[in-house]
Amino acid sequence: MEKLIIKNFWEMHPGLHQRIETSSFINADDSIKKEAHLTRELREKSGLDKLVQGLEFIVINTEDQKLLPAVEEILIYTGYDLKESFENEEQKVVVLCCENSPDLLITVRKNGENPFYPLNLNPKSEHLPNTRIEAFFYRTPELSKYHSIQLNRGVIFTSNSIVNKENYEILQTIPSCFTGISYGFVNWKGERIYKTSKDTDMAIDVKKPDFPYIKNIKNIDHAATRLPAKNRDAAIIEFMELTNYNFEFAIYVENLNSITNVARLSAKDFAMVFTSGISSENNEENLGPTEKFVRNYGARVHHLAFITENIEETFQNLKEKGQRFLIDLVGSEEEGLKQTFTYPSPNTLIVNEYILRYGDFDGFFTKSNVTNLTLATDKQ
Ligand SMILES: [Fe+2]
Repeated sequence: MEKLIIKNFWEMHPGLHQRIETSSFINADDSIKKEAHLTRELREKSGLDKLVQGLEFIVINTEDQKLLPAVEEILIYTGYDLKESFENEEQKVVVLCCENSPDLLITVRKNGENPFYPLNLNPKSEHLPNTRIEAFFYRTPELSKYHSIQLNRGVIFTSNSIVNKENYEILQTIPSCFTGISYGFVNWKGERIYKTSKDTDMAIDVKKPDFPYIKNIKNIDHAATRLPAKNRDAAIIEFMELTNYNFEFAIYVENLNSITNVARLSAKDFAMVFTSGISSENNEENLGPTEKFVRNYGARVHHLAFITENIEETFQNLKEKGQRFLIDLVGSEEEGLKQTFTYPSPNTLIVNEYILRYGDFDGFFTKSNVTNLTLATDKQ
């Protein structure tokens, strides 16, 4: 078994452990709702409650030769623009930003071991062995307090102490054995600037195009991670124990052996979605697209979803600019929601989702869209 982020995770959740050890394991909501309730109590008791706030930035690591094309495609296909680009002995970093949205840091390692490397060696991802969304960094104004509570709880960070930079202090967990994600925590001292005086400017020859449709593509609404059926409860509880997010609801698509689970901080914040199989016991023919994805790519973030206005027109414009889609727009104004998925990027392996919620639609997803989108990913 790979290393757990929270050393004594299984001792703290014996029920969960027992459940996944049984041979006839099938996901159901009773167990996770009970565990989620206990986690909220634990956050209150331990002083963690409300210490962690919203998402600040996402780290996407790429191969060196894919860095520039990865940045270019984000500039063409999303509302993100270039903010900073710099390098140091360890890495190259390109920072992209978009209003009311977490920053995207596109990085390349120049030195040192890549702790995510073994997680990337899967049949359809091993050709890009350094490529994945590696980390989500959340804002934590009281980082020292957070660090000491979580150390006492057995959380394993990548550094022995808080890393102190000019404009921020930062902490990061080791990659999760359930999702392949590392969770980070940042406290800004002032302006949100990543480059330090020790870093060198790295000029990159890219420019934000001025295509009119780009202004329709707004902030990141959610990220969706795909993981094995057996990791579903543990992954969500682990995330709840590290942040202030709550498990909200799950949509089961029985005939595709898939569950889409939504965790939120508030209705306005970026949401974390975890999609897994219902059961891992199925044979090759009825695995379903979600479990199949995990076998082909490993547990990882599958897509980033961008709020998109004038979605029909924007969908056409994106196609004209070369974006390839796994599926047409699904859903309708009557149902309150329209969405679509692109093919995975050849540079980052990330799928883009474009999503529009109409008027007073207060559901987060609809079952029919989830079904159609899940089915479309069978093509990957
Ligand atoms: Fe999504």
